[in-house]
Amino acid sequence: MSSHGQVWTTAIRGLVLFLVLGLTFGVAMEGSNSTKRSFDVDHDNDTFVLDGKPFRYVAGSFHYFRALPKSWQNRLRTMRAAGLNVVDTYVEWSLHNPHDGIYDWKGIADLEDFIKLAQQEDLYVILRPGPYICAERDNGGLPHWLFTKYSNMQPRTSDPNYLKEVEIWYKQLMPRMQRFLYGNGGPIIMVQVENEYGVFHACDRDYLNWLRDETQKYVEDNALLFTTDIPNERIACGKIEGVFATTDFGIDRIHEIDDIWKMLRAIQPTGPLVNSEFYPGWLTHWQEENQRRDGKLVAEALDKILSYNASVNFYMFFGGTNFGFTAGANDWGYGKYTPDITSYDYDAVMDEAGGITEKYELVRNVIKEYMEVPDINVTMASRIAYGSVILKPIATVLSGMGRSTLTRGKAITAEKPQTFEELDLYSGLVLYETELPRLEIDPTLLTVNDLRDRAFVYVDEQFVGTLSRENQIFSLPLSKGWGNKLQLLVENQGRINFNVANDTKGIMGDITVQRLSGEKQKLVNWVSTAMPLDGDQILDIINKHKSIDMTDDVLNIKSHVMSNGPVVYYGEFLVGKLGDTYLNTTGWGKGVLYVNGFNLGRYWPQAGPQITMYVPKELLTLGLNSVVMLEYQLANQKIPNIASVELMSKAQLDG
Ligand SMILES: *[C@@H]1O[C@H](CO)[C@@H](O)[C@H](O)[C@H]1NC(C)=O
Ligand SMILES: *[C@@H]1O[C@H](CO)[C@@H](O)[C@H](O)[C@H]1NC(C)=O
Ligand SMILES: *[C@@H]1O[C@H](CO)[C@@H](O)[C@H](O)[C@H]1NC(C)=O
Ligand SMILES: *[C@@H]1O[C@H](CO)[C@@H](O)[C@H](O)[C@H]1NC(C)=O
Repeated sequence: MSSHGQVWTTAIRGLVLFLVLGLTFGVAMEGSNSTKRSFDVDHDNDTFVLDGKPFRYVAGSFHYFRALPKSWQNRLRTMRAAGLNVVDTYVEWSLHNPHDGIYDWKGIADLEDFIKLAQQEDLYVILRPGPYICAERDNGGLPHWLFTKYSNMQPRTSDPNYLKEVEIWYKQLMPRMQRFLYGNGGPIIMVQVENEYGVFHACDRDYLNWLRDETQKYVEDNALLFTTDIPNERIACGKIEGVFATTDFGIDRIHEIDDIWKMLRAIQPTGPLVNSEFYPGWLTHWQEENQRRDGKLVAEALDKILSYNASVNFYMFFGGTNFGFTAGANDWGYGKYTPDITSYDYDAVMDEAGGITEKYELVRNVIKEYMEVPDINVTMASRIAYGSVILKPIATVLSGMGRSTLTRGKAITAEKPQTFEELDLYSGLVLYETELPRLEIDPTLLTVNDLRDRAFVYVDEQFVGTLSRENQIFSLPLSKGWGNKLQLLVENQGRINFNVANDTKGIMGDITVQRLSGEKQKLVNWVSTAMPLDGDQILDIINKHKSIDMTDDVLNIKSHVMSNGPVVYYGEFLVGKLGDTYLNTTGWGKGVLYVNGFNLGRYWPQAGPQITMYVPKELLTLGLNSVVMLEYQLANQKIPNIASVELMSKAQLDG
């Protein structure tokens, strides 16, 4: 009852606010035409102008797809309370268009609701629709199915197939955005065209001009089009005629600020100076140290930037989380593949759970010197240590009911292994199976060419080793007599997001064993099985299996290694008071975490530095909650045969 009451109160408040906002804008629009809402650049006075008055912004990036919708309002309010007047977000094509012709605008994909909330919280919006966004997201936001539909698509160029698909996508996206444009009464003041295009090798001017026109078609003069480019020798490649140019840099380059402004001035002599991505922290990959940046240096750098009358956007002000399989990877062009961690804490101004940090206070104090900072009280969820959770194995991935529940569609038999894209699979696992030929030598060398990205190798369902793209390990020895059935379970660890965006997954090259003669024998006749590992499949497993205990089948007392393939572990915990919590994965190997059937993302404490996984309070319910760890390698068994995890009140990202 009381919860219904709350829903109605909220609904009525929303309605009243809607009417008030509607009246305000209505009056503005019906008044004399000279007061039409406008946002533009004054090239005489090097400033933005909002409704004819000089305007500058201190913005913060917050990507709606990195936080649960129920937390959006709280995060936006905390940003406004720091003195920001604008929120900046990318739009992720692959989220809204997961399969060809299928669109999603609900839940975490409810971009319109996000923009409405921003407006209610007194923030303007900078929209960055890409369509390529980088953002440390899988494929830089481009849907995987583009690469199934067109085998040789050249994204970010005038490839007619790419243009056609962008046109179809914008036809879905842009009409939803039009009512939110500033000139139409909404909060969107700026819309980005492409994203750091200067550093992309193609430098395709026809494509940029086409994308400008395609964006302009919907935006008209109701918001300002802009580009963002890295300040280096390629900056001019990203500049588009008739589109406002901005640049981006973090505290690591603040000592070069005069040279950076000069580079921007060289492509655009007048107008306000803008840093569209001011990095108060940085992104982190698995198998490296957590990237932290000092708060005092951030505050000093902000002060410096604002002293030039520049406008600035923090990237990120609030980073959030790469839930599910949405984290991307980098290659930086050196052939060294490095996947991003699940947390997008970024050492940003707010932490991963939306909390205020020391950096936040320092930044707010600087903003106060330049802008009016509203008096808003910020509320933070409590962080609760729910304690230890015992987990038991309830299903195996390579066999039995576990395997059939996790499989999607029919397995495909073909001479070559099918890619994830050929299977129309966003992420998760693909199982590749074939019969081994009679081995001529003992041992022989198994080689998997162009593996993307990690393969767990089994012979007759016995684990024999791991191959890894990031560590450049593509071969392992196989002994004669181990068995006949070869299984390669391949994990997509995130498609490359920076610069290129066509990192298809699975096994692209030949798979061979060595002969007595030294020649390589190609293995053919592969059965490819898609395993998306989505939340619905996990709920299905829980329903069918939660009363099962496979401890005796899958583990022996001496070993906690997943010697027969990945295992689904299940546990329950009681919640008496709702709060945020952090699941500590210490002692586990590598896998995927689900709470109440929601995929919280990849964990990998053996590589680090991320040790804890953020579990937002919005996912929890009072009473019983479920944890599933789909573990590929190793269970934490402090006590023999009893696996467990700990729910803690603090994040540990520096392990
Ligand atoms: C404003 O412009 C519209 C059409 O653009 C016109 O119909 C209207 O009369 C104008 N209003 C004023 C106050 O000039
Ligand atoms: C911009 O500069 C011009 C000339 O220097 C001046 O007349 C005008 O008032 C300025 N505009 C604003 C909005 O300050
Ligand atoms: C900043 O703007 C003010 C007001 O227009 C002006 O007086 C000042 O010279 C500007 N500072 C810089 C560094 O451009
Ligand atoms: C914020 O909280 C303080 C203390 O609870 C209260 O005195 C103040 O009025 C609140 N301010 C706003 C803007 O709600």
